[in-house]
Amino acid sequence: MRIGVFDSGVGGLTVVKSLLDSKLFREIIYFGDTARVPYGSKDKNTIIRYSLEAVEFFKNFNIELLVVACNTVSANALPKMREEADFPIVGVIESGVLALQNSDLQKDEPILVIGTSATIGSGIYQNLLNQNGYSNVEAMATGLFVPLVEEGIFKGEVLDSTMDFYFKKLKSKPHRVILGCTHFPMIGTEIANYWDKKPALVHSGDAIMQYLKNIYPDLKIGNTDIKFFASENPHHLKVVAKMWLGLESSN
Ligand code: DGL
Repeated sequence: MRIGVFDSGVGGLTVVKSLLDSKLFREIIYFGDTARVPYGSKDKNTIIRYSLEAVEFFKNFNIELLVVACNTVSANALPKMREEADFPIVGVIESGVLALQNSDLQKDEPILVIGTSATIGSGIYQNLLNQNGYSNVEAMATGLFVPLVEEGIFKGEVLDSTMDFYFKKLKSKPHRVILGCTHFPMIGTEIANYWDKKPALVHSGDAIMQYLKNIYPDLKIGNTDIKFFASENPHHLKVVAKMWLGLESSN
């Protein structure tokens, strides 16, 4: 199966990691809109406009499925993208909530959802969780984590004080944290360690992979070829891909 993966920038590589580890896809075409990242601080109309341009880009590749790795796009642009695309599109939000349902979490245990302003502001995670009976949900926009990860700051005092800045305001200590942004898995361990009793994390990449295995049960293990495209500075994307994914060579 040849699939596309779309993200606002390099963060979607955390989702690619899960897809590559599964070895279930023949080819992955990755497009990161590095010229216009971040999407998370932009308004819905702008996010939709950029995402529709990405749909046009992927029409050149004869893909069988588009995985939207970006939570911000998944939260704001999926219906419009589906109207324009001639291939199926899956986002990462439903699969994140499904991953919770498949866990042993009780419906009244505290859940924290963190993401960009545009993701949290859309209310999509909160609504889906409430619809599924989860009654103790706090959602918080933690956009400062995005530039930290972009800078390669995965631990240390700047991250610690940023976590303090946000997490001190929480009402409850979470039992689960939904990492509702592509960048956050890179600092997932630090986030979990913030609390004495570590919450379990929901990672978009693992969640979407589980979801895809269920809807495509016939996929066979094999080698995956991956091609990277970026709207600006593809060299940087390749450098980050080599670092985050441990790739030796890539196009
Ligand atoms: N990829 C975005 C997300 O998952 C984070 C970066 C951005 O703001 O564009 O929400």
